[in-house]
Amino acid sequence: MSGAPLPWGRRFVMCPPRHFGVLYEINPWMRREVSVDPDRALAQWTGLVETLRSAGAEVETMEPHAAVPDLVFTANAGLVNASTDGSGPGQFVPSHFRHPERQPETPVNAAWFGARGWQIDRLPDDVDHEGAGDALPFTPDGGTTVLLSGYSFRSDASAATELSALVGCPVRPVQLVDPRLYHLDLTFCPLDGRRAIVAPSGWDTYGRKVVDALVPEPLVLTEDEALSFCANSVVVDRTVVMPAAPPRVGRQLEAWGFEVVECRVDEFLKAGGGCRCLTLALDTVLSRPRRQASPGSGPTSPTGAPRATPAQRARSTRPPAPRARP
Ligand code: ARG
Repeated sequence: MSGAPLPWGRRFVMCPPRHFGVLYEINPWMRREVSVDPDRALAQWTGLVETLRSAGAEVETMEPHAAVPDLVFTANAGLVNASTDGSGPGQFVPSHFRHPERQPETPVNAAWFGARGWQIDRLPDDVDHEGAGDALPFTPDGGTTVLLSGYSFRSDASAATELSALVGCPVRPVQLVDPRLYHLDLTFCPLDGRRAIVAPSGWDTYGRKVVDALVPEPLVLTEDEALSFCANSVVVDRTVVMPAAPPRVGRQLEAWGFEVVECRVDEFLKAGGGCRCLTLALDTVLSRPRRQASPGSGPTSPTGAPRATPAQRARSTRPPAPRARP
């Protein structure tokens, strides 16, 4: 039995690698002495754009900036909660990066979304969260959307409560335990309403239970398979685009009716990023506004709250958004 196709993954934003390089080391894959071939990086990035477009996705781009080489990994820009009622594009929660090297990306990302009419809602200053790199939605067939949020290496556990209140959907925190799989999107890839690629070697016992309860039919990776970054896939309808497909993983996906496309991104693996990291979906819907607010109806619980409360909205800005660094 197939699940319903993913309701998101048809529109992405990506950032060309004009200033990409390994200039610092903030994950175990990065080695400053390894040089990036800029032409090869651009060719691989362009190849990924073309692959996504031929799978049926739209790809928008944002301008690269000098001094923020990891801006190419747009998955980390923030969290997207697209609107469904035509009131504007939706809500964007910019990331709070753990490492100072990536912190200057936040105003650039907020400015891109702000200039396009997205409502910018911010996390508290002392809460780290690295956006869609550490949080992916899963919508079980017939159920409601749950946001799975990874924490430990880059994001704080406390971000779950904050995000739930901001975006209005249940958020399940999952502790990441393998520093090589330092973001959730290296361990989890929703495929449809029943299935996801999962790498339990990257999670603690409780996290494994959370995912078990959420995903009816997981494709469970071995540690070696996970370290090939095959969970870092971009899913466009029934096409799964991954850096490299381990044979068993490719066979299982094909048996489930997916088309597997390998897209070489080894220049980006030098910085610890694969296909998914290079993209940010613009069409993830995390919650739907309530039809009519009844008098006195406020947010109910941290895991089932409606969209932002007035207090949170005070922290939010409609455009113009913060200034981009030059
Ligand atoms: N060099 C980047 C970092 O360490 C890679 C980010 C990969 N992004 C992701 N969504 N997993 O932050």
